Amino acid sequence: MNRYIMKGGNPLVGEVQISGAKNAALGILAASIMTDENVIIENLPDVRDINVMLEAIQEIGARVERIDRHTVRINASTIHEVSVDDDYMRKIRASYYFIGALLGKYKSAEVPLPGGCNIGSRPIDQHLKGFRALGARIEIERGAVVAHAIDLVGGHIYLDVVSVGATINIMMAAALAEGQTILENAAKEPHVVDVANFLNSMGANIKGAGTDIIRIRGVRKFHGTEYSIIPDQIEAGTFMCGAAVTRGDVTVKNVIPKHLEAISAKLLEIGCEVIEGDDEVRVVGRPRQHSTNIKTLPYPGFPTDMQPQMAVTLALTSGTSMITESIFENRFKYVDELTRMGGNIKVEGNVAVIDGVKGFTGAQVVSPDLRAGAALVLAGLAAEGFTVVEGIGYIQRGYECFEEKLQKLGAVIELINSDKEVNKFRLKTG
Ligand code: EPZ
Repeated sequence: MNRYIMKGGNPLVGEVQISGAKNAALGILAASIMTDENVIIENLPDVRDINVMLEAIQEIGARVERIDRHTVRINASTIHEVSVDDDYMRKIRASYYFIGALLGKYKSAEVPLPGGCNIGSRPIDQHLKGFRALGARIEIERGAVVAHAIDLVGGHIYLDVVSVGATINIMMAAALAEGQTILENAAKEPHVVDVANFLNSMGANIKGAGTDIIRIRGVRKFHGTEYSIIPDQIEAGTFMCGAAVTRGDVTVKNVIPKHLEAISAKLLEIGCEVIEGDDEVRVVGRPRQHSTNIKTLPYPGFPTDMQPQMAVTLALTSGTSMITESIFENRFKYVDELTRMGGNIKVEGNVAVIDGVKGFTGAQVVSPDLRAGAALVLAGLAAEGFTVVEGIGYIQRGYECFEEKLQKLGAVIELINSDKEVNKFRLKTG
């Protein structure tokens, strides 16, 4: 089974190119099937979730052509199916974006219900509320969402919860509905804006993305487009925390600094130096970093997808910090693993109380989910001795060439898949 092995102690130093945003790309790939003309998408991250999404698009009949590792041409004129296969939903939750895309274009969709996942129950009631408000009939049959509409007609929708997925899904269906849709209490994440910009590049008429009120005027059909995905805010933030955790000096390149402001602000608060450029941010860790408090919030608040990485950073500062996880109900599962490395964290409900320690010692740990897995790698890179992180399939879902990018920054880390290789690594790195 694939795992990462690392020898901690080296500060991360250097520059790292940030890949395209996974969570923008997933919505944009789904939306790309809404036209029968060619769509070229650039700066796609080469990660498992994206590759699964491309397979699902092919499976329903669209033509997918890889132009290079990060560029794909899609033509959906040959789609013959509005029912998405269950095993895609089991692999990636974002398959639910096919509901909004297929319903918008074909007025019909059958997509398996996503399960819960390791960080919470993650219902999609707000998505379905939006589709119904546009005139779709929604049934749950045989574990799938079955959606049909004679016509989709714009409506006034107020989301009860700020939801990235519901905002993107409803925006897609409304973009080809008749008349105007007003979507209130919308999510404002950079990837919501990126999907709106992509839809507009195909001829949609969407205004206000990035604010909490999005106005969508339906159009009859979309034309083709060429589009480049924004850089990944969370991958960038993960490497920024890597500089803080290892007391290194890392510049994340090809980023949009504004998207990173909440992360930069917290790293400044704990005593790191943070220098912003036009399309890069440099983070310099300091020997003495101190505690602070975090509350995860919808954008522009501190992102929940950076919570585990920040917890590792705070666990190695002096003083006591508190993290309140206000988005998901079960996103502290990594704390037990960190305790095995010497972390001193107590979780009470959705609050983690973190007493900083001088350092971690290496251990064998298991990644409970995508972002927690990346956080445990950061902990291993800071720890004294060897750490093995198992369950890295999660990490490979959202981080392109994670170990290679870390190696280029000076990390002593390898991807291995046998106990024999563990011993070889230990001997080699002594
Ligand atoms: C997206 O998930 C991201 N995934 C998540 O990133 C991210 O953590 C999350 O947004 C919040 O930023 C993708 O974009 C593929 P939500 P999503 O709908 O859309 C509740 C990662 O690590 N809710 O904004 O599923 C929900 O339970 C992943 O890349 C409802 O109650 O998140 C949660 O408590 C992890 N009803 C809150 O809203 C609904 O219909 C926010 O969820 C929808 C959501």
